[in-house]
Amino acid sequence: MASMAGMDPEAYAMTDTTDLFEIIRTTRSMRRLKPDPVPPALLARVLEAGTCAASGGNQQNWRFLVIRDPAIKAAAGAYYTRGWHEGVGPRYRAGGSAPGTSPERFERMLAAAEHLADHIHEAPAWIVPCLSGPRGSGASIYPAVQNMLLAARALGLGATLTTLYLIHEKECEAAMGIPEGFHSYAILPIGFPRGKFGPVRRAPLAEVVYDDAWGRAWS
Ligand SMILES: Cc1cc2nc3c(=O)[nH]c(=O)nc-3n(C[C@H](O)[C@H](O)[C@H](O)COP(=O)(O)O)c2cc1C
Repeated sequence: MASMAGMDPEAYAMTDTTDLFEIIRTTRSMRRLKPDPVPPALLARVLEAGTCAASGGNQQNWRFLVIRDPAIKAAAGAYYTRGWHEGVGPRYRAGGSAPGTSPERFERMLAAAEHLADHIHEAPAWIVPCLSGPRGSGASIYPAVQNMLLAARALGLGATLTTLYLIHEKECEAAMGIPEGFHSYAILPIGFPRGKFGPVRRAPLAEVVYDDAWGRAWS
């Protein structure tokens, strides 16, 4: 497949595709979502992709809470909104832009993140991936999360991995009705995207991959 470097993002505006590498390269955070409901059959495909992921010892100590109830999304989403405005948003605004992206693009990302912070409760569906036991690294749930993000993208659905609600972890988990003995590791707001899918922006391999010796750039 041709490299995406330098290609017009419009070239990647298709809503669904089955080419795995195309999906990987265009699974961006889609933070502006339409309010239209997500057909349950599509949600089921996303969730099934999640449960195909690996977990330590194949223990599958996961549960996936799907939240579509507007009252629950409003109550829990308020903690997300607070977390953004009270801490995360100002912190990102005070820092530099991310590697592999321009200041303008980074500013657009922050604007989209702020939009999500103010509208997360309007996303038609949330998937909240949870694990049993004390809060841990999430190594046995984030593979499922990534599978679900890729599956959503493949189906033309937009989603974002969000964790900033964890600033108000206890209150937000209580609002979502997560019982004792389980912890949530993300909220994935999912819906049909308002914008178009496009390539992710990342630093090139030469900057992040080393060849046999630490610091020797991969070529
Ligand atoms: C561990 C983790 C936590 C994240 N939490 C949030 C979040 O709370 N809110 C948000 O808008 N994006 C969140 N993101 C999304 C990242 O900001 C996003 O993936 C990154 O800026 C790259 O942009 P892209 O996904 O569009 O390529 C999170 C991503 C990861 C991996």
